[in-house]
Amino acid sequence: MFSFSPVLKTIKQILTPHKGILAADETPATLGKRFAAVGIENTVENRRAYREILFTTPNIENYISGVILQDETIRQTTSGGLFFRDILQKKGIVLGIKVDQGLAPFNNSTNEKITQGIEGLDRRLEEYYSMGARFAKWRAVFAIGTSTPSKECLAANTHLLAVFAKLCLKRSMVPIVEPEVLQDGDHDINVTFETTKKVLTSVFLALADEGVSAKKIILKPNMVVPGENGPVVLPEVVAEKTVECFKTIIPESLPGIVFLSGGQSEEAACINLQAIVQYGKQCPWQWSFSFGRALQNSALQTWAGKKEQVDGAQALFLRRAMMTSDAKEGEYQTF
Ligand code: 13P
Repeated sequence: MFSFSPVLKTIKQILTPHKGILAADETPATLGKRFAAVGIENTVENRRAYREILFTTPNIENYISGVILQDETIRQTTSGGLFFRDILQKKGIVLGIKVDQGLAPFNNSTNEKITQGIEGLDRRLEEYYSMGARFAKWRAVFAIGTSTPSKECLAANTHLLAVFAKLCLKRSMVPIVEPEVLQDGDHDINVTFETTKKVLTSVFLALADEGVSAKKIILKPNMVVPGENGPVVLPEVVAEKTVECFKTIIPESLPGIVFLSGGQSEEAACINLQAIVQYGKQCPWQWSFSFGRALQNSALQTWAGKKEQVDGAQALFLRRAMMTSDAKEGEYQTF
């Protein structure tokens, strides 16, 4: 009788039709930046209240299969004293956790970063598993510059991604491998194409070196888009560049690709996702999303720390999740 390993079962739960991942794993410092933009004070209570709005939105489980939490949030409760992790699990949402500990300069570089947090990772994974987390995320970032990403930085970061993935699998947790080529800059889409190709090649070589099978991970890459100040292109071009870049590198056995939104607007992220899904419908991988800002921006702006705006924020969050789910299914319509 055929039976799924716990890891494959979790992958199947995450990669469900019509659903994707909500990345709500901003550190207190990062969420503080998002709060500052809408005039909210960065306190534990405000961060708690904000996450309560997201996680208690009625029917969100129709569009969200997994939520990525962060160390503070996995330990937090609602104002009524219920653990967020219990609320999400009751909705049938799989719990994920960000386990990297942010970025530090790589070799004293001013624009290259190395991801922190490999020390003590195994112990942290064990604790998060005991709290119900069944998948984990590690983010490496690569800035596009005249001489970056450097070979050394690529190798160091992709090695850490692979070690992280190996440790997750040892604990029966699904690794979400996130190599992000940043959108900062005025480069054109071909530069992002070449850089993403280099980065993904290095990621899959590093995974193979650590004996990690592509079958047991989920990849969370950037879409291939121009730099934020570079020449704008149509969604069809983003789709072609993204899919053609991935086709030459990513093993067919990889179960799914969940995109980050990377600073794109909610609308742009959805339109580009839909174009990729349509262009790449013959690809062997499932296409999905693991958006942070592109799921949350409108809800956060509407809430802006005001109690009377909670219902409005939840309504917008639900609507955005529904539209992103539609984009994933190729059924997105702009209004
Ligand atoms: P964005 O979708 O806002 O890029 O966030 C996704 C994420 O998890 C970044 O690590």
